[in-house]
Amino acid sequence: MDSDIQLISGAMVSLGLATAALVVMPYIQVRDIVPPPELKPYTDQQLRGRAVYIANGCVYCHSQQPRDRKLAPDAARGWGRASVPADYSYDRPHLLGSMRTGPDLFNIGVRQPSADWHLGHLYQPRAYVPGSIMPAFAYLFRVKARADEGEQVVNLPPGRLPEGMVVVASPDALDLVKYLQGLNHTYAVLPALAPPLPLPPPPPSPPPQPP
Ligand code: HEC
Repeated sequence: MDSDIQLISGAMVSLGLATAALVVMPYIQVRDIVPPPELKPYTDQQLRGRAVYIANGCVYCHSQQPRDRKLAPDAARGWGRASVPADYSYDRPHLLGSMRTGPDLFNIGVRQPSADWHLGHLYQPRAYVPGSIMPAFAYLFRVKARADEGEQVVNLPPGRLPEGMVVVASPDALDLVKYLQGLNHTYAVLPALAPPLPLPPPPPSPPPQPP
């Protein structure tokens, strides 16, 4: 009987400690964080693109968390300043990633703004970066004799397609590229997030002077 009570109370204490450390403390740390004014919520198209990013496992090779100068030379790599919790205000789920087989993409929209480049690179990474080990996401595109009305033709470097064929982007590819183009967390973050400094009290008004 005694050992039952010991077992149950031991389990309750462990569960309580784990809840405090993994649920309550993180909640207290991030609950007061407000989205930076420069960070805009995703558009519907970007949210669809984000779903394509998740479905295709981009997060397995790409992080979205540039690190501090003390930890990694990410700023020197052109990946941007270290990210802060507020940068993820609209990210559900966040896509921090833990692998960096490819570059960090948290600011790819600034580094590479061209939709043409993204579409072509997704269709065939090695047409742009010789020796790239990124998989070609060719199934997000169609190879056809000619594009139909309203379809977006991908401008590939010459010699990448059979003579007389065109590559057109699927809606998924277009959504994904809109999401990538929107990844921009280059705004300055510290002044905007620090609580405003209290103003000094106004100086006492001078005593009235005799005329
Ligand atoms: C197997 C690992 C792997 C996967 C999965 C992968 N990538 Fe990559 N990616 C790389 C590598 C390696 C590079 C660097 C070489 C290059 O640019 O092709 C790269 C480069 C990139 C770049 C250019 C980055 C820069 O700084 O120039 C973008 C954009 C990109 N990937 C997007 C994606 C997207 C979107 C997906 C999912 C649809 C994806 N990647 C999936 C490995 C991967």
